[in-house]
Amino acid sequence: MRLILLGPPGAGKGTQAKFLCERYGIPQISTGDMLRTAIREGSELGQKVEAVMNAGELVSDDLIVSLVRERIAQDDCANGFLFDGFPRTIAQAEATREAGVRLDHVIEIAVDEEEIVSRLSGRRVHPGSGRVYHIEHQPPREVDIDDESGEPLIQRDDDREETVRDRLRVYRDQTRPLVDYYQQMASDSPAEAPVYHRVEGIGSVEEIRARILAALEDTQ
Ligand code: AP5
Ligand code: ZN
Repeated sequence: MRLILLGPPGAGKGTQAKFLCERYGIPQISTGDMLRTAIREGSELGQKVEAVMNAGELVSDDLIVSLVRERIAQDDCANGFLFDGFPRTIAQAEATREAGVRLDHVIEIAVDEEEIVSRLSGRRVHPGSGRVYHIEHQPPREVDIDDESGEPLIQRDDDREETVRDRLRVYRDQTRPLVDYYQQMASDSPAEAPVYHRVEGIGSVEEIRARILAALEDTQ
């Protein structure tokens, strides 16, 4: 199973990814998580991308494409993977296609902008695992503590309201065109294109999970 979760910042990609990866036994490839790990570790990559990420802008296509290419060559990707936050530009999608990576499904999680700002301002994350919480909608058992590891939760640097607005602008300009790109691909060459599903992203985490599963399982 090779999936793309597509959607604006805060749509719930990371939240839904955890469940789908367990269900299908595939790794989650979140370019955002990979870059945040690089920043935390202070690697050369991390130093290169930190300012760009904190400004809510996109990291260069070349860097991202080579990061993903290396990642999907690893053994645990042999049975598939879930892309979360990749591809993010038409150029990234084209590079993936040119590399001969076949994809089965694109799932767009659709959420409007007002909801996004409230989701991101209440988000808390466990940096080590990428597990995501929300202070109201998905609170941890103990305030600001990860349920599984007992380690502290943090707020992401790019979840400040001004940066969220920049990320939404970047999404509209550079990522949303992928909605048309994959829909067009599905109508032009259905045999090689991934199946496109649009799922309404407003509702409880469980409701959205059920919508995604219904979409996937209807078309398998
Ligand atoms: P990335 O980490 O990919 O961030 P993003 O796309 O902006 O998405 P988020 O992680 O903010 O949201 P999400 O959809 O995963 O939502 P979540 O499940 O956490 O990228 C960060 C940065 O890295 C980019 O800005 C860029 O600089 C760089 N980057 C990454 N990939 C790149 C690429 N390919 N090319 C170039 N640059 C790249 O949920 C959000 C909140 O809502 C949580 O608190 C959650 O608990 C809550 N929530 C979830 N579902 C629900 C629900 N149904 N109801 C209520 N609350 C909910
Ligand atoms: Zn995420």
